[in-house]
Amino acid sequence: MKKNLFSIYFIIVLAFLAGCGAVEEKSASNTGSDSSEKTLVMATSADYPPYEYVETAKGGEIVGFDIDVANHIAKKLGYKVEIKDMDFNGLIPALDSGKADFVIAGMTPNEERRKTVDFSDEYYAAQQLIVTKDKTIKSVENLEGKTIGVQLASIQEKEAEKLLKDHKFEVVQRNKVTELVQEMKSNRVDAAIIEDAVAYEFLKKNKDLSSFALPNTDAAGSAIAFPKDSKLTKEFNEELNKMKEDGTLDELVEKWFGVKK
Ligand code: ARG
Repeated sequence: MKKNLFSIYFIIVLAFLAGCGAVEEKSASNTGSDSSEKTLVMATSADYPPYEYVETAKGGEIVGFDIDVANHIAKKLGYKVEIKDMDFNGLIPALDSGKADFVIAGMTPNEERRKTVDFSDEYYAAQQLIVTKDKTIKSVENLEGKTIGVQLASIQEKEAEKLLKDHKFEVVQRNKVTELVQEMKSNRVDAAIIEDAVAYEFLKKNKDLSSFALPNTDAAGSAIAFPKDSKLTKEFNEELNKMKEDGTLDELVEKWFGVKK
């Protein structure tokens, strides 16, 4: 009898452990809404306030506009989200290799990226700014001979390359926007190309920096990226459009960007 009780206990423990395993099971390849796999792996580059950044006051939690958008959509669709933070240039490879189910990182859809990933509709648009500590840099002409920082693999890197056709300066790439800001503060980089909302966040905290608009650039939208042919693209798009219609997206824009669109 005792032995029987013991084996029943043993079986219960085993069943419990197996259960935990199933809950822990993560999906980075699951593209459907199979109810046995409810956690989606979301990759981002949390160097980009107010889109996504590490909130030290909240014990290092990753927060921001994108995180709220992703959580809202995932919740509506019945998924949990697990966040993976990485360098911006690792995001598309993460989708490609099945390490993430989607990427939300203020990422702008362009032709080159569309060759490897699918995008949702756009949910926000930004402009490019030149950010600098150097008071003599007031226009693009003043960039001659200077060192200009951009985030590696970003569209800002492309903007710098375009400028190089008519101007002479050195381009330096960094993995994180936070590093670009540090490099400017310590005079290793003269100026950086950064998106408006992100630049304003850094300007607020670094009074030695100032900015001006980079002319001749198109508005750069943000969209969510998925592995090619993921079923999630359509599911997410439907919820994203509902958010646009019912005012949820506007509320989040106001919460994080402080402006009504
Ligand atoms: N919008 C730009 C791009 O797509 C920059 C995005 C950078 N995002 C980030 N989380 N650091 O290239």
